[in-house]
Amino acid sequence: MYDLRSDTVTKPSKKVLESALNAELGDDEYIEDPTVNNLEDECANLLGFEKGLFVTSGLMGNQISLLIHNDPGTEVITPHDSHIKNYEHGAAAFLSRVQFRDAEHTDGELNLEYVEKLILKSKVHKPIIKTVSIENTHLASGGSIVPFDSIESLSKIVREHGLKLHVDGARIWHAIEEDKNNMNYGDFCDSLTFCFSKALGAPIGSMLLGSMEFITEAREYRKKLGGGMRQVGVIASMAKTALQGRESILEDHAKAKKVYDFLNVNLNNEKIQSIVYKGTNMIFLNIKNQEDPNKLLDIFYNESINAGLIGEKSIRLVFHKDILQNDIDKICEKLVHSSSKF
Ligand SMILES: Cc1ncc(COP(=O)(O)O)c(C=O)c1O
Repeated sequence: MYDLRSDTVTKPSKKVLESALNAELGDDEYIEDPTVNNLEDECANLLGFEKGLFVTSGLMGNQISLLIHNDPGTEVITPHDSHIKNYEHGAAAFLSRVQFRDAEHTDGELNLEYVEKLILKSKVHKPIIKTVSIENTHLASGGSIVPFDSIESLSKIVREHGLKLHVDGARIWHAIEEDKNNMNYGDFCDSLTFCFSKALGAPIGSMLLGSMEFITEAREYRKKLGGGMRQVGVIASMAKTALQGRESILEDHAKAKKVYDFLNVNLNNEKIQSIVYKGTNMIFLNIKNQEDPNKLLDIFYNESINAGLIGEKSIRLVFHKDILQNDIDKICEKLVHSSSKF
């Protein structure tokens, strides 16, 4: 079975697992786990932030950021189809009690004029806007990369109005590996979360980055949420080793591009409205409105392709380290062959 549902299905390599055995450990609640401390500092340095905090999941990093940046009843501007709003089990309503204000966007890049209009409207009857949250890469658009210069411009507006800018960078390395000149997110953003547990191939863990003050507060929230951990260097060591292998993300992009090019030429089924590839590790097959994508998912499954559904009508094919380069031709053929039965 080729599991293309997500890059979260990746399993840790032997090298990643072995690093856990050699990790130097301490009690991280006392900030005494050298492996964790080292990983937090390394990640903060890489992305230009003052400090890092190792958290259990991307969700925890995102939601702690909202807890700190917002007060109950205030708003977060975000793409209408962002993960932080739609796919975190209502955590924002449950924890920070904020509401989301949808912003127009193109492939995750916010329309800046629209954002500024929203901010200026925030008076009398409208809730106060405290945070703008973007997602890079932007999942719902097909894993698109948000251009760094647009983040710089957004940051300028956000700062002029005294708001905070959060980046849900669950897959930030997919953007960075394509453009290593732009890594200094800390210069423009107040907080950023990224995940070790997706394409990087670690089994658990995410990093939350921000200022010293932000991370001190984040540590308290992590504790309140039950995310304080002890000899967690066993996990942080795996995250570190997985991060060291981040260049292989570009191979995943190449795998997706090869399949996309093949499908573009060879997949002709009028029930499939469009095939979308946005330059990273995902392909979306958008199914026509009157058709049932689950039928195609079943056909794929019977041909050993496990694909995922995103939204109502898009089938998602995600390429990752556990899909081998040598299998790409076979996957191409299987996708075209099974689509002909749809
Ligand atoms: C864009 C994005 N943000 C945040 C998350 C949450 O990460 P986690 O599953 O580690 O909570 C995900 C998970 O798939 C994601 O795709």
